[in-house]
Amino acid sequence: MIAASLEAYLQSLQESGLDGIPAGLAGEIAIAPSPAATQTAVRPEPGPEPETSAAAIVERETLETVGKDLGNCLRCGLGQTRKNLVFGMGNPQARLVFVGEGPGADEDLQGQPFVGEAGQVLNRIISAMGLKREEVYICNVVKCRPPGNRDPLPDEIAACSPFLLRQLQSIRPEAVVALGKFAAQTLLETKEPISRIRGRFRDYHGIPLMPTYHPSFLMRRQKEGSLDAFWEVWDDMAQVLRLLKLPVPEKSRKR
Ligand code: URA
Repeated sequence: MIAASLEAYLQSLQESGLDGIPAGLAGEIAIAPSPAATQTAVRPEPGPEPETSAAAIVERETLETVGKDLGNCLRCGLGQTRKNLVFGMGNPQARLVFVGEGPGADEDLQGQPFVGEAGQVLNRIISAMGLKREEVYICNVVKCRPPGNRDPLPDEIAACSPFLLRQLQSIRPEAVVALGKFAAQTLLETKEPISRIRGRFRDYHGIPLMPTYHPSFLMRRQKEGSLDAFWEVWDDMAQVLRLLKLPVPEKSRKR
């Protein structure tokens, strides 16, 4: 199935007249075997717990607790129109978290983040990084689908943000990737365009946050015949891998 989807992807690139892709984004094809096999994006099981103070224990709530508090959330209007709340998925001990904007139609139906077309692009990015989707954690700024995929409204973000923050405080990743203008601008509380802020780490509550383009934007640019944004995302992800001290798979752009 992976081979078939890659073949279709490569064919679509060829049809759009492009002759080069980031090696990693082509999945298994061009990534040279690397020492990544022994290094992962999941923290090893902790040894004896060093933090024994009451404050430290209180701070470390589990994702399950956050989910329970969220419950069948009706804190904003999105609760009325959603089919499923999309809490997030992945490894609770992930070293890396991807944050998107909000669920789309597919995510709303399945109750899981990034399972539609944009999710396939995100999967390709993750595997190009030498990682597995199960190793990282994926969630969104808002947990319920805004009708018609409109941008979430300020009161919706305000109602949901504390839960995202609690998720991140529970996971304590070493890096966060903000996918797209909306996630980056919301998390960083800025109006700066994504084209200006992408590619440089910023601080999000003490966690290095890398703003980069949204997978849907990459799809749009690809349909328009350009892979430049893919390359920019690849450069951003290479920085993330270096921060995590994980190997950066070789790229093979045809020039
Ligand atoms: N786009 C997002 O921003 N998040 C999803 O979960 C799916 C698509």
